[in-house]
Amino acid sequence: MEEFKTIKKAVFPVAGLGTRFLPVTKNIPKEMLPLIDKPLIHHGVNEAIASGCNEVVFVTGTGKESIKSYFSHSIELEDTLEKSGKTEFLNIVKNIPELAEFRYVFQEKPLGLGHAVLCAKEYCIDNYFALILPDDVMIANPTVLTQLDKIRSKYNGSVLSLERIPMSQTSRYGIVDAEQIDENVYKIKGLVEKPNPDVAPSDLAIMGRYILSPSIFKHLESINCGKGGEYQLTDAISSLLHEEPVYACIYEGERHDCGVIEGWIKATIINALRDSRYRDIAIDAFIDEIIKK
Ligand code: G1P
Repeated sequence: MEEFKTIKKAVFPVAGLGTRFLPVTKNIPKEMLPLIDKPLIHHGVNEAIASGCNEVVFVTGTGKESIKSYFSHSIELEDTLEKSGKTEFLNIVKNIPELAEFRYVFQEKPLGLGHAVLCAKEYCIDNYFALILPDDVMIANPTVLTQLDKIRSKYNGSVLSLERIPMSQTSRYGIVDAEQIDENVYKIKGLVEKPNPDVAPSDLAIMGRYILSPSIFKHLESINCGKGGEYQLTDAISSLLHEEPVYACIYEGERHDCGVIEGWIKATIINALRDSRYRDIAIDAFIDEIIKK
């Protein structure tokens, strides 16, 4: 798959308030909640890097300073670890800021996903770029972005990630009207943000991975306020369709919606069970709690 890894920049909108996780998100960004030993955002960054990206653009907001400090060097911590001979941890910590070039843009107000992506324009105007919504933790090999990039390189257009969902859930996602053109590959005819089931064009929902053409920016600049009074990326992609083709892929892999507590708990348990360091403790806890009681 190496030849398809041509996307170099990944945008992460991380300005959201994380209200679903209150009170823990009162002073910890939801992106910094741990999934085992790394914050959620680190998992997303790892996926971007595994997909060939070397530049990460965070669209941040108020109270998100810890994301920047996490991806920066901590001289004091590194010194302490070095002096105490904790080489393994020292290497882990020193490596984080070296993962990619990290950029930060500030989204003044929470005006929606479309507005957040527009904030990253100065870094992404020259080429196709990836958009990662870090709430969606993807476990896939090759990565979902690599799967999308393969389609971008074949058809030359923006590519969305899709999942089939029960019709009862259409009001939670952007929903596409699309024509199948290859196995798991679709050409988009239209898209609607969070429609009710009775007006949804299909059961194909947009998930948190996109590859977008830089042409998206002029559409982001011209759209009106949409669903929920926010500037919606879905509306800008809808407008982009008049200018360029847009494709989509039902990706292969596993998604954990860590934007809700239930999804985060499930992802934590699954990741513990799959990690040889923590598998036994996870099983023991289950046996103690469920079987023995
Ligand atoms: C956003 C998009 C929506 C998409 C979803 C995927 O919604 O607006 O089209 O289906 O991400 O997670 P949000 O989850 O930010 O409300």
